Amino acid sequence: MPKHADLKTGPGHVAIIMDGNGRWAQQRNRPRLFGHHAGARRVREIVAACPDLGVKYLTIFAFSTENWKRTQTEVAGLMSLFRKYIEREAKALLKNGVRVRFIGDRIRLDVKLVRLMDELELLTADNDLVHLTIAINYGGRDEVTRAAKRLAYEVEMGRLTHNDVDAETLSRFLDTRVLPDPDLVIRTSGEARISNFLLWQSAYSEYEFVDTLWPDFTAVEFARVLSSYGRRERRFGAVLA
Ligand code: FPP
Repeated sequence: MPKHADLKTGPGHVAIIMDGNGRWAQQRNRPRLFGHHAGARRVREIVAACPDLGVKYLTIFAFSTENWKRTQTEVAGLMSLFRKYIEREAKALLKNGVRVRFIGDRIRLDVKLVRLMDELELLTADNDLVHLTIAINYGGRDEVTRAAKRLAYEVEMGRLTHNDVDAETLSRFLDTRVLPDPDLVIRTSGEARISNFLLWQSAYSEYEFVDTLWPDFTAVEFARVLSSYGRRERRFGAVLA
């Protein structure tokens, strides 16, 4: 049985692929970054809604390992937006009981951003109301590859043998090692793809694809998606009695 957050009270862990910022901006004849800024305001609203909706873990896809292929202007604008988000929101996140973690490979990120990420993780480390995980320079294949590499190193050092390698051991080397698997993955903007998000962890997750573009995705719609999840029966590959 995969590890999951408390299923009785609703989806304990929700993961979101926040898609559609670019199209939202385009519809308004504005640059793509305008859409990302509107998207950041939605992040604030959705995080704030989590405690009332029984969402203990929220994981959001902010920047993928493939997003470096976008124009230099967009990439730099997004990186600057992440810095501003951390600087502006840190106090409120701390006060509101949100524990923030980041997943993804930090090696390619600007040192100033990485420092802010480390500081926010440390600042909020004692919070336990909502666990917000932000994926930056994250890719599921990249994460599993990095985990396999570390595992191979442990074997090379003689601290593990090949017989120790199983799903449980590999999970302990993933960026998400302390998180439960997501119960529900939501993708906005009408695209029905996983796009390399939480590949390993979402093996048994439910998926919801909604047409709304991310900057239009309100807490009310979030609540509606969660309640439709509550009506489903999950089997994890087994037959329930
Ligand atoms: C996908 O929309 C969105 C992104 C690549 C960036 C997500 C970032 C945010 C929501 C900004 C704020 C995040 C934080 C954590 C402060 P897209 O640009 O691919 O949209 P499109 O498919 O319409 O072009």
